[in-house]
Amino acid sequence: MKDAPKTNLATEIGSVSLPNPVMTASGTSGQGAELANYFDLSLLGAIVVKSLHIEPWPGNPPPRLHPTPAGMINSVGLEGPGVREWLNNDLPLLEEAGARIVVSIWGRTVEEFAQAAKELAQASKSVIAVEVNASCPNLEDRKNLFAHSLEATKEVVEVSLAAERPCWAKLSPNTPDLPQIAAVAKKAGAEAVTVANTLLGMTIDLETRKPLLGAGRGGVSGPAVKPIAVRSVFDTYAENPDLPIIGVGGITKGRDVSEFMMAGAAAIQVGTATFANPRASKKILKEFSKWCKDQSLEEMNQLIGAAHE
Ligand SMILES: Cc1cc2nc3c(=O)[nH]c(=O)nc-3n(C[C@H](O)[C@H](O)[C@H](O)COP(=O)(O)O)c2cc1C
Repeated sequence: MKDAPKTNLATEIGSVSLPNPVMTASGTSGQGAELANYFDLSLLGAIVVKSLHIEPWPGNPPPRLHPTPAGMINSVGLEGPGVREWLNNDLPLLEEAGARIVVSIWGRTVEEFAQAAKELAQASKSVIAVEVNASCPNLEDRKNLFAHSLEATKEVVEVSLAAERPCWAKLSPNTPDLPQIAAVAKKAGAEAVTVANTLLGMTIDLETRKPLLGAGRGGVSGPAVKPIAVRSVFDTYAENPDLPIIGVGGITKGRDVSEFMMAGAAAIQVGTATFANPRASKKILKEFSKWCKDQSLEEMNQLIGAAHE
């Protein structure tokens, strides 16, 4: 099929138009333009930066990362410079690199989300959306994860609209209520949901006979979680067919993107794969583009939700 025309990879995430569906996943390629050392960031649909708190945040004690079968477990704990410092130091570098930028925010309270969102309202137009990290498993109060509660999800989404940007809610795969929580996020004003964050896990050090990570528990990611992420996207789409979904979890190759699209995703993010290869997202985009062309697809979005038909 050498002569087949290229597939149009453009996708719509609510009011945001992206030239292709491949983004980086929050927390897996730094706070700023680190990846620009490896490829042209404007090639990707968007760059999603590590979740930012209103204030600088030290994160969790080491060790923070550990390999697991087909993936990794982390308890980084949202270390970051805080929104103000990020706006001054990191945003200009990302803009220079030509990236479409999505800023992820987090807070320990609804009020902290509100403060981070308000501060972001002054960011330049290169910040095309805000991803609300309502689902980080690496906080002390795991029992009260925002995205495990209909009411708390509604509240953090509502206050995050203060960023005056399209709002995407990043949800948790660690709850059976994910489709209902997605519906609540939409009702509260989210234009899309990102499905999903890491799975809660633990690994034990046999020498010390204690949890290996400094924070005890951590979030599991990488190829091992892909079927869970695909199922999470499928279930979310089944109950919310009009809500754009950004699929994330274990994507390492172009064919994985196709699978997420068929489950119902309108775009995807690449996380753990970037640790092994900083050019992973570019490679995955190239492979996906070729796969679409080999399928003689005119529009990539013909794939979205195909597995439901
Ligand atoms: C080291 C590490 C740090 C992460 N930090 C964040 C973060 O700050 N905010 C967030 O929303 N997700 C964070 N995540 C979750 C990823 O964005 C992604 O949802 C998850 O890892 C699943 O995708 P993957 O299997 O492609 O990595 C982090 C993941 C890893 C591995």
